Amino acid sequence: MEPTVWPLYGLRITTPRLELRLPDLDLLSELAEAAAGGIHDEARMPFSVPWSDASPEERGRATFQHVLGTVANRNARAWTLSLAVLHGGQVVGRQDLSADEFAVTREAETGSWLGLAHQGQGIGTEMRAAVLHLAFEGLGAHWVTSAAMTDNPASLGVSRKLGHRPDGLAVVSVGGEARTLRRLRPDRETWEAHRTVPVEVEGLEPCRTLFGV
Ligand SMILES: CC(C)(COP(=O)(O)OP(=O)(O)OC[C@H]1O[C@@H](n2cnc3c(N)ncnc32)[C@H](O)[C@@H]1OP(=O)(O)O)[C@@H](O)C(=O)NCCC(=O)NCCS
Repeated sequence: MEPTVWPLYGLRITTPRLELRLPDLDLLSELAEAAAGGIHDEARMPFSVPWSDASPEERGRATFQHVLGTVANRNARAWTLSLAVLHGGQVVGRQDLSADEFAVTREAETGSWLGLAHQGQGIGTEMRAAVLHLAFEGLGAHWVTSAAMTDNPASLGVSRKLGHRPDGLAVVSVGGEARTLRRLRPDRETWEAHRTVPVEVEGLEPCRTLFGV
């Protein structure tokens, strides 16, 4: 697809093992299949919005609609960039970066998942490092927050490796159950001190206005 109308389709973020890009319909179908294949143990919901508590087919469709929704509903004041993560040419998961009023706050937030078969191999760390680089180096963020359930050692492990500073707790209702989220808030200095993953960004210039910067 020519990224003329929607230049975000031309944005590429690469790390030693991964490429992150806004998925076209073919890649989005692969991403939906990865979601349908399973993301987490059914007994342990890692997300504050329990969208993945669904049949494989519904999970795939929710993923498909989420990514298209981020394109359809995007504006420069409130945006979510929802990227497919490719490893060896195969779509293995999704990495999001979102913000409200980024031009004013210079604060964005990350969120992500990997298909079960691809977890525990350092991919989660590499893909979060990719969007942190985009946010801090590419877009001039001051903070990039994230949050994980206190019983999510993998997500908290990624945050620990990338040097995220603790930013308190929040209690949220997930499917009628009270769950505790640990919030994290790396600033630019902390991010720089913990950079271990080389990241390259291509195609950002024509996208700047879509990020409100
Ligand atoms: C969270 C997620 C993206 C992390 O990606 P990942 O590739 O599995 O994580 P990594 O392999 O990069 O691991 C990062 C660190 O956490 C540690 N870790 C990973 N899984 C762990 C587990 N189950 N228990 C304890 N530590 C764990 C790793 O050992 C690593 O630290 P180390 O290198 O010092 O050993 C992935 O596990 C996932 O998609 N989980 C389900 C969905 C989810 O929880 N999304 C996030 C919601 S906040």
